[in-house]
Amino acid sequence: MNYPANDLERILLSEEEIKVRVESLAKQISKDYTDTPNLYLVGILKGAFIFLADLARHITVPHKVDFMALSSYGATTESTGEVRIILDLRQPVERMHILIVEDIIDTGNTVHYLQRLLKGRQPASLKTCALIKKQRNSIEVPVDYLGFTIPNVWVVGYGLDYADTYRTLPYIAELKKEIYQPR
Ligand code: IMP
Ligand code: MG
Repeated sequence: MNYPANDLERILLSEEEIKVRVESLAKQISKDYTDTPNLYLVGILKGAFIFLADLARHITVPHKVDFMALSSYGATTESTGEVRIILDLRQPVERMHILIVEDIIDTGNTVHYLQRLLKGRQPASLKTCALIKKQRNSIEVPVDYLGFTIPNVWVVGYGLDYADTYRTLPYIAELKKEIYQPR
């Protein structure tokens, strides 16, 4: 382990809960994209790497996987509202049915920006799958597949980080407030 376990307030989503939900999302996606060629899963790095890996392995229709890296935060939990592309897709998407795979929607800035950007590249279709959405006054973004809704707290694990730490915890836990809101 590369983190002190006592930084965690409580486990919000257990390994088993996540597994069950991810499998059911994959089942729904497989059903909806039956007979749809060119399904293109676009995982948003780094946070979605574990979610995408588990989701994709349960999707039973043919698909390709690619990644984008975006950044709206520094090493803190304060959103700047600004989104930057760090890594772009490797190919044009005109004939692709894009499914954005995102870890968590907080302010909604990242997904909003991404949906506008990718729509501009005229894919065959564009949908969004997010593992988690926080309950807060975020920008309204369409989410076609959603795993869980959680309170407005900082969570880590299952790909999610705080200052690039805690990503490989098998569950999703709330971080103690004193860690991310130092007095
Ligand atoms: P948004 O643009 O405010 O919706 O934030 C989206 C991005 O911020 C996500 O893709 C995550 O990388 C990161 N993020 C937001 N909330 C959390 C959290 O609670 N834990 C870890 N990362 C988060
Ligand atoms: Mg992140």
